[in-house]
Amino acid sequence: MTPNEPSQPLPGNGAEPTANPAPVPIWLVLVFGALVYWCQLYLSAHAGGFSPVVYTPYASSEEVAAANPQDPGARKRAMGREVFEKTCYLCHQLNGLGKEGIAPPLVGSEWVLAPHGDRIARIALNGLTGPITVKGQEWNLTMVAWRDNYSDEQIAAVLTYIRTKLGDNKASDIDAALVKAARAEPHPGPETTDELLKIPVQ
Ligand code: HEC
Repeated sequence: MTPNEPSQPLPGNGAEPTANPAPVPIWLVLVFGALVYWCQLYLSAHAGGFSPVVYTPYASSEEVAAANPQDPGARKRAMGREVFEKTCYLCHQLNGLGKEGIAPPLVGSEWVLAPHGDRIARIALNGLTGPITVKGQEWNLTMVAWRDNYSDEQIAAVLTYIRTKLGDNKASDIDAALVKAARAEPHPGPETTDELLKIPVQ
Protein backbone atom coordinates (compact mmCIF):
# COMPACT_ATOMS: atom_id res chain seq x y z
CA MET A 1 0.00 0.00 0.00
CA THR A 2 1.43 3.41 -1.08
CA PRO A 3 1.08 6.32 1.43
CA ASN A 4 -1.60 8.02 -0.70
CA GLU A 5 -3.95 5.09 -0.89
CA PRO A 6 -6.95 5.19 1.50
CA SER A 7 -6.80 2.62 4.19
CA GLN A 8 -10.53 1.97 3.94
CA PRO A 9 -12.54 1.33 0.78
CA LEU A 10 -14.18 4.42 -0.70
CA PRO A 11 -18.00 4.49 -0.85
CA GLY A 12 -19.88 4.16 -4.14
CA ASN A 13 -17.85 3.95 -7.26
CA GLY A 14 -14.70 4.74 -5.42
CA ALA A 15 -14.46 8.41 -6.55
CA GLU A 16 -13.27 10.78 -3.94
CA PRO A 17 -16.07 13.16 -2.59
CA THR A 18 -15.64 16.75 -3.72
CA ALA A 19 -17.05 20.06 -2.43
CA ASN A 20 -17.92 22.19 -5.46
CA PRO A 21 -18.45 25.85 -4.61
CA ALA A 22 -22.05 26.12 -5.93
CA PRO A 23 -22.99 29.67 -7.12
CA VAL A 24 -25.39 31.61 -4.82
CA PRO A 25 -28.86 31.12 -6.31
CA ILE A 26 -30.17 34.29 -7.96
CA TRP A 27 -33.47 34.13 -6.04
CA LEU A 28 -31.55 34.37 -2.78
CA VAL A 29 -29.75 37.49 -4.01
CA LEU A 30 -33.08 39.04 -5.01
CA VAL A 31 -34.81 38.14 -1.74
CA PHE A 32 -31.89 39.55 0.24
CA GLY A 33 -31.84 42.74 -1.85
CA ALA A 34 -35.56 43.20 -1.34
CA LEU A 35 -35.12 42.69 2.40
CA VAL A 36 -32.40 45.33 2.63
CA TYR A 37 -34.56 47.73 0.61
CA TRP A 38 -37.54 47.10 2.86
CA CYS A 39 -35.37 47.71 5.93
CA GLN A 40 -34.34 51.10 4.55
CA LEU A 41 -37.94 52.07 3.86
CA TYR A 42 -38.92 50.93 7.33
CA LEU A 43 -36.15 52.94 8.96
CA SER A 44 -36.85 56.12 7.06
CA ALA A 45 -40.54 55.86 7.96
CA HIS A 46 -40.16 54.85 11.60
CA ALA A 47 -36.75 55.75 12.93
CA GLY A 48 -37.60 59.41 13.60
CA GLY A 49 -34.36 60.58 11.98
CA PHE A 50 -32.55 58.54 14.67
CA SER A 51 -33.43 61.19 17.24
CA PRO A 52 -32.92 59.88 20.77
CA VAL A 53 -36.24 61.39 21.93
CA VAL A 54 -38.40 59.68 19.29
CA TYR A 55 -39.77 56.26 20.20
CA THR A 56 -42.41 53.94 18.74
CA PRO A 57 -45.25 54.66 18.02
CA TYR A 58 -44.00 58.14 17.04
CA ALA A 59 -42.14 58.60 13.79
CA SER A 60 -40.91 62.20 14.11
CA SER A 61 -40.16 64.84 16.73
CA GLU A 62 -43.24 66.79 15.53
CA GLU A 63 -45.43 63.82 16.41
CA VAL A 64 -43.81 63.60 19.83
CA ALA A 65 -44.45 67.31 20.44
CA ALA A 66 -48.00 66.97 19.14
CA ALA A 67 -48.73 64.12 21.53
CA ASN A 68 -47.22 65.89 24.53
CA PRO A 69 -50.08 66.13 27.02
CA GLN A 70 -48.25 68.54 29.33
CA ASP A 71 -48.94 71.55 27.15
CA PRO A 72 -52.43 71.56 25.64
CA GLY A 73 -51.38 74.23 23.12
CA ALA A 74 -48.32 72.29 21.97
CA ARG A 75 -50.29 69.93 19.79
CA LYS A 76 -52.02 72.81 18.02
CA ARG A 77 -48.78 74.71 17.46
CA ALA A 78 -46.99 71.62 16.22
CA MET A 79 -49.81 70.98 13.74
CA GLY A 80 -49.80 74.65 12.71
CA ARG A 81 -46.08 74.62 12.17
CA GLU A 82 -46.40 71.52 10.01
CA VAL A 83 -48.96 73.24 7.75
CA PHE A 84 -46.90 76.43 7.67
CA GLU A 85 -43.71 74.62 6.74
CA LYS A 86 -45.50 72.60 4.10
CA THR A 87 -47.42 75.38 2.38
CA CYS A 88 -47.45 78.97 3.64
CA TYR A 89 -43.68 79.43 3.92
CA LEU A 90 -43.36 78.93 0.16
CA CYS A 91 -44.53 82.51 -0.35
CA HIS A 92 -44.57 84.18 3.06
CA GLN A 93 -41.06 82.76 3.81
CA LEU A 94 -40.03 80.67 6.81
CA ASN A 95 -39.44 83.79 8.92
CA GLY A 96 -42.89 85.15 7.92
CA LEU A 97 -41.44 88.38 6.58
CA GLY A 98 -42.87 87.91 3.08
CA LYS A 99 -41.14 88.72 -0.19
CA GLU A 100 -41.52 91.58 -2.63
CA GLY A 101 -43.75 90.54 -5.54
CA ILE A 102 -44.55 87.16 -3.94
CA ALA A 103 -46.46 87.68 -0.69
CA PRO A 104 -46.87 90.24 2.10
CA PRO A 105 -45.42 89.72 5.59
CA LEU A 106 -47.31 87.82 8.30
CA VAL A 107 -44.99 89.04 11.06
CA GLY A 108 -46.32 92.35 12.35
CA SER A 109 -49.28 92.24 9.93
CA GLU A 110 -52.33 94.01 11.34
CA TRP A 111 -54.47 91.41 9.56
CA VAL A 112 -52.78 88.52 11.31
CA LEU A 113 -52.67 90.23 14.70
CA ALA A 114 -56.28 91.52 14.77
CA PRO A 115 -57.98 90.72 18.09
CA HIS A 116 -60.41 88.32 16.41
CA GLY A 117 -59.63 85.79 13.69
CA ASP A 118 -62.77 86.28 11.58
CA ARG A 119 -60.94 87.96 8.70
CA ILE A 120 -57.82 85.79 8.51
CA ALA A 121 -59.95 82.64 8.76
CA ARG A 122 -61.74 83.79 5.60
CA ILE A 123 -58.46 84.78 3.92
CA ALA A 124 -57.02 81.32 4.56
CA LEU A 125 -60.20 79.46 3.60
CA ASN A 126 -61.22 81.45 0.53
CA GLY A 127 -58.02 83.08 -0.70
CA LEU A 128 -57.49 86.78 -1.32
CA THR A 129 -57.21 89.01 -4.38
CA GLY A 130 -56.60 92.65 -5.15
CA PRO A 131 -55.07 95.49 -3.20
CA ILE A 132 -54.31 94.99 0.48
CA THR A 133 -52.29 97.23 2.78
CA VAL A 134 -50.02 95.41 5.20
CA LYS A 135 -47.81 97.44 7.58
CA GLY A 136 -48.32 100.54 5.47
CA GLN A 137 -47.30 98.91 2.20
CA GLU A 138 -49.75 98.09 -0.57
CA TRP A 139 -49.73 94.69 -2.26
CA ASN A 140 -51.86 93.78 -5.22
CA LEU A 141 -51.55 90.07 -5.79
CA THR A 142 -53.70 86.95 -5.43
CA MET A 143 -53.59 84.06 -2.99
CA VAL A 144 -55.50 80.87 -3.74
CA ALA A 145 -57.96 79.28 -1.28
CA TRP A 146 -56.72 76.64 1.16
CA ARG A 147 -60.16 75.30 2.16
CA ASP A 148 -59.78 72.08 0.18
CA ASN A 149 -56.25 71.43 1.40
CA TYR A 150 -56.79 71.64 5.14
CA SER A 151 -59.37 70.80 7.81
CA ASP A 152 -60.88 73.37 10.21
CA GLU A 153 -58.51 72.10 12.86
CA GLN A 154 -55.47 72.48 10.62
CA ILE A 155 -56.43 76.00 9.49
CA ALA A 156 -57.08 77.03 13.10
CA ALA A 157 -53.70 75.54 13.99
CA VAL A 158 -51.75 77.35 11.26
CA LEU A 159 -53.46 80.66 12.07
CA THR A 160 -52.63 80.12 15.74
CA TYR A 161 -49.06 79.35 14.74
CA ILE A 162 -48.64 82.54 12.69
CA ARG A 163 -50.30 84.61 15.48
CA THR A 164 -48.19 83.24 18.30
CA LYS A 165 -44.97 81.75 16.98
CA LEU A 166 -43.84 83.73 13.95
CA GLY A 167 -41.31 86.47 14.72
CA ASP A 168 -42.53 88.42 17.74
CA ASN A 169 -46.21 87.99 16.89
CA LYS A 170 -48.27 87.73 20.06
CA ALA A 171 -52.02 87.32 19.66
CA SER A 172 -54.67 84.91 20.85
CA ASP A 173 -55.20 81.34 19.60
CA ILE A 174 -57.76 80.66 16.88
CA ASP A 175 -60.48 78.09 17.52
CA ALA A 176 -61.45 75.39 15.04
CA ALA A 177 -65.11 76.35 15.71
CA LEU A 178 -64.46 79.84 14.29
CA VAL A 179 -62.95 78.34 11.14
CA LYS A 180 -65.85 75.91 10.86
CA ALA A 181 -68.39 78.75 11.01
CA ALA A 182 -66.47 80.76 8.40
CA ARG A 183 -66.25 77.72 6.14
CA ALA A 184 -70.00 77.21 6.34
CA GLU A 185 -70.64 80.59 4.67
CA PRO A 186 -70.53 79.98 0.93
CA HIS A 187 -68.02 82.25 -0.82
CA PRO A 188 -67.36 81.79 -4.52
CA GLY A 189 -63.88 83.02 -5.45
CA PRO A 190 -61.28 84.77 -3.32
CA GLU A 191 -62.00 87.46 -0.73
CA THR A 192 -61.30 91.15 -1.34
CA THR A 193 -60.28 93.66 1.32
CA ASP A 194 -63.49 95.66 0.76
CA GLU A 195 -65.53 92.66 1.83
CA LEU A 196 -63.22 91.74 4.69
CA LEU A 197 -63.18 95.24 6.19
CA LYS A 198 -66.94 94.92 6.79
CA ILE A 199 -66.30 92.04 9.19
CA PRO A 200 -65.62 93.34 12.71
CA VAL A 201 -62.48 92.04 14.40
CA GLN A 202 -62.41 94.14 17.56
C1 HEC B 1 -48.42 80.74 -3.48
C2 HEC B 1 -48.11 81.80 -2.55
C3 HEC B 1 -48.80 81.80 -1.20
C4 HEC B 1 -48.93 80.78 -0.31
C5 HEC B 1 -48.42 79.36 -0.44
C6 HEC B 1 -49.65 81.32 0.82
N1 HEC B 1 -49.93 82.64 0.62
FE1 HEC B 1 -50.89 83.89 1.92
N2 HEC B 1 -50.78 85.39 0.58
C7 HEC B 1 -50.19 85.30 -0.66
C8 HEC B 1 -50.40 86.55 -1.38
C9 HEC B 1 -49.88 86.86 -2.79
C10 HEC B 1 -51.14 87.37 -0.52
C11 HEC B 1 -51.65 88.80 -0.84
C12 HEC B 1 -52.85 88.72 -1.80
C13 HEC B 1 -53.30 90.09 -2.30
O1 HEC B 1 -52.43 90.90 -2.63
O2 HEC B 1 -54.53 90.32 -2.36
C14 HEC B 1 -51.34 86.63 0.71
C15 HEC B 1 -51.98 87.12 1.83
C16 HEC B 1 -52.12 86.46 3.03
C17 HEC B 1 -52.67 87.04 4.24
C18 HEC B 1 -53.17 88.47 4.46
C19 HEC B 1 -52.09 89.50 4.31
C20 HEC B 1 -51.01 89.44 5.37
O3 HEC B 1 -49.84 89.38 4.97
O4 HEC B 1 -51.31 89.47 6.57
C21 HEC B 1 -52.65 86.04 5.18
C22 HEC B 1 -53.11 86.14 6.63
C23 HEC B 1 -52.11 84.86 4.55
N3 HEC B 1 -51.79 85.14 3.25
C24 HEC B 1 -51.95 83.64 5.18
C25 HEC B 1 -51.48 82.49 4.55
C26 HEC B 1 -51.47 81.19 5.16
C27 HEC B 1 -51.95 80.88 6.56
C28 HEC B 1 -50.93 80.33 4.25
C29 HEC B 1 -50.74 78.83 4.37
C30 HEC B 1 -51.92 78.04 4.60
C31 HEC B 1 -50.61 81.10 3.06
N4 HEC B 1 -50.95 82.40 3.29
C32 HEC B 1 -50.01 80.58 1.93
C33 HEC B 1 -49.50 84.22 -1.18
C34 HEC B 1 -49.43 82.97 -0.60
